[in-house]
Amino acid sequence: MRVVEAFRAAYGASPETVWHAPGRVNLIGEHTDYNDGFVLPFAVPWGVTAAITPRADATIRLLSLQADGGPLTLVGHEESTGWTRYVVGVLAMLGDRVSGADIAIDGDVPQGAGLSSSAALEVAVASALNDLHGLGLTPMEIALLGQKAENDFVGMPCGIMDQAASALCEEGHALFLDCRSLASRTIPLDLASHGLAMLIIDTQVHHEHAGGEYAKRRAECESAARKLGVPALRDVTDLPAALELLQGDERRRTMHVVTENHRVEALIGLLRAGAVTEIGALLNASHLSLRDQYEVSSPELDVAVEAAVRGGARGARMTGGGFGGSAIALVPVDRLDRVQESVAAAYAERGFQAPRFLPATPARGAHRI
Ligand code: GLA
Repeated sequence: MRVVEAFRAAYGASPETVWHAPGRVNLIGEHTDYNDGFVLPFAVPWGVTAAITPRADATIRLLSLQADGGPLTLVGHEESTGWTRYVVGVLAMLGDRVSGADIAIDGDVPQGAGLSSSAALEVAVASALNDLHGLGLTPMEIALLGQKAENDFVGMPCGIMDQAASALCEEGHALFLDCRSLASRTIPLDLASHGLAMLIIDTQVHHEHAGGEYAKRRAECESAARKLGVPALRDVTDLPAALELLQGDERRRTMHVVTENHRVEALIGLLRAGAVTEIGALLNASHLSLRDQYEVSSPELDVAVEAAVRGGARGARMTGGGFGGSAIALVPVDRLDRVQESVAAAYAERGFQAPRFLPATPARGAHRI
């Protein structure tokens, strides 16, 4: 394995453990996780592999096959920058439960596609350290640790979805997660037997202001919940009455979060009923709500979704935080070519950079190799 060879070349011995953790796409339930709501992601076939050996001292030696140069040596946590923050953040959150470590990282999550390469990195490293130090953390505790590293160390106020998907997903399944109780259930997602495929359309665009807008949405939701006197927007049961009490952005954000939670439950109901083709309508509705009420889409995402549906997709939506990244489209297998042609033509017509198409089959969550 490439990462093991790189580890040996850099540190002169084989790693004690190697863990893989995947990225994710979210089928539905967007911007609901930090509102204590429901999400339904699945793991993608790309991820991060971490090869690690603990050290007796506090030094962290770190190399990535995707970064230039030899291993970096970090003595203090504050020295980390860029991608290393996700690794050092996990070590920092584990505190004196762990020592330093020699680490090699290899990843194949398409960069900038919004497929959660950072969560994959956190979960791979946390899982390996959990294993090496016998910490006894459950996959959900590993996800929470990764989220804490991202919230408190990296400074991105994300919810729990990405790390939970990376830690807990199973092959061939989506993961239904209640982000308040953290109860989860895997749901079979066998699209092929219905003649369907999930196509990721990577816009290859990521807008600069995404981080600030994410924090702003989160604050708007929290403010709306306070005005409504509920712990979180998940608790809104009478939507029309709630909307009477709100205005402007907060009103629209609430409309999205409450209806999106219902769409997650409806989609699970359809999957249970075997009505897989019918979930397309919910994907479309989710996209419109994210575009018009939550205002986190982008021209590239909107064009991808519209052109995919025009080309024969059963439904499509942006996935992940928004402002670029990827859309997903539910496509009958015999229309895959047509859908891709339709999106590519629409992009060319508008002068957008050509999108990248990736097939998405639900993959396995974090595991030891
Ligand atoms: C990003 C965050 C997640 C979630 C999504 C939106 O991916 O990391 O926690 O909030 O956006 O659903």
